[in-house]
Amino acid sequence: MIASNLLFIPPQDLGTPPMSESPWSLLPTASNHAASLDNLYLFLTLVCGIAMVLTIGAQIYFMVKYKKRSDDDVTSSLKHSAKLEFGWSIIPTIFLLVFFGWGEIDFMALSTPPTDAMQINVKAKQWSWEFTYPGRTGQAYSYGKDSKGETIAIPTLIVPLGEPVRMMMQSEDVIHSFYVPAFRVKKDVVPGRYTSVWFTAIAIEGKTLPYEFPLFCTEYCGDEHSSMLAKVIVVKPEDFEARVAEATKLTKLEGQSDEAFGAMIYKAKGCDACHTTDGSKKVGPSFLGVWGKTETLADGTTVKVDENYFKTSLENPNGQLVAGYPAQMPSFLGQIDDEQRDALIAYLKSLAK
Ligand code: CUA
Repeated sequence: MIASNLLFIPPQDLGTPPMSESPWSLLPTASNHAASLDNLYLFLTLVCGIAMVLTIGAQIYFMVKYKKRSDDDVTSSLKHSAKLEFGWSIIPTIFLLVFFGWGEIDFMALSTPPTDAMQINVKAKQWSWEFTYPGRTGQAYSYGKDSKGETIAIPTLIVPLGEPVRMMMQSEDVIHSFYVPAFRVKKDVVPGRYTSVWFTAIAIEGKTLPYEFPLFCTEYCGDEHSSMLAKVIVVKPEDFEARVAEATKLTKLEGQSDEAFGAMIYKAKGCDACHTTDGSKKVGPSFLGVWGKTETLADGTTVKVDENYFKTSLENPNGQLVAGYPAQMPSFLGQIDDEQRDALIAYLKSLAK
């Protein structure tokens, strides 16, 4: 985990899809907003490029033309040209107004969702994403493999192709930012208020559904900001309901042991952001060897780490805080079901040895 504090982690190392097919290819144009924003960006780059060549070119030309050739070389008397001055003021002004107008049109489109857009609830917290769907309980996950080849559950945003969806976003703690490069949408998720963004996923030529893209947090939000990733899956509208139903039940896989399922929950629910399994201290105590241990609490009393202490700590984390750690853990009340809790307990027990 030391490397993760120093280097950019490619999304595929955390089980999420890569940004594009190769590092040299452009981002896929995967939403209704993408093409117009790309064109605006290209236009800006072109105009600025031409302006740079013209100004630097004129500088070089004048340097050569008006070089002081001898000691008695004197500057001719200076006159100004009203036409020229007017021209170099008005032409850039026109371009700036075009940038503004075009940008404003795109911004308005990004800010005004169609009235029939489907709402998906997004919650950001240190350091994971939660996606919940109308009429359904439970967050959506999908499975992927990390760089060590371990199967992990990844928070997943599933959207139907060709239908407008609106993200209704909240933060549980600090400012995060919702960013899907393939859709060219980015919006801050701010504590204490709702923010929203909308898009329609569109078909990509030569690619078959389902499409998978990475989703990033793009506002620095603490230690594990760079691993606050999720997966976006674009599916056929007729498959949408079934995919969401499948994704919103995080249950044990066929033949999976309790410990292995517990390890998956530990990552999927973001426990790994604060609790290590190698004995090192992070925001909270390490899980290595914690099971069965007697801990001293912030108020000086002691408690044995057993099933009941674990359950209480999940539901009311700051009620019995271990001494020396900040009261920073959010409550998982109602977010971890009995099967998942049992698996987590099995996992912690396996780390006791
Ligand atoms: Cu959340 Cu960065």
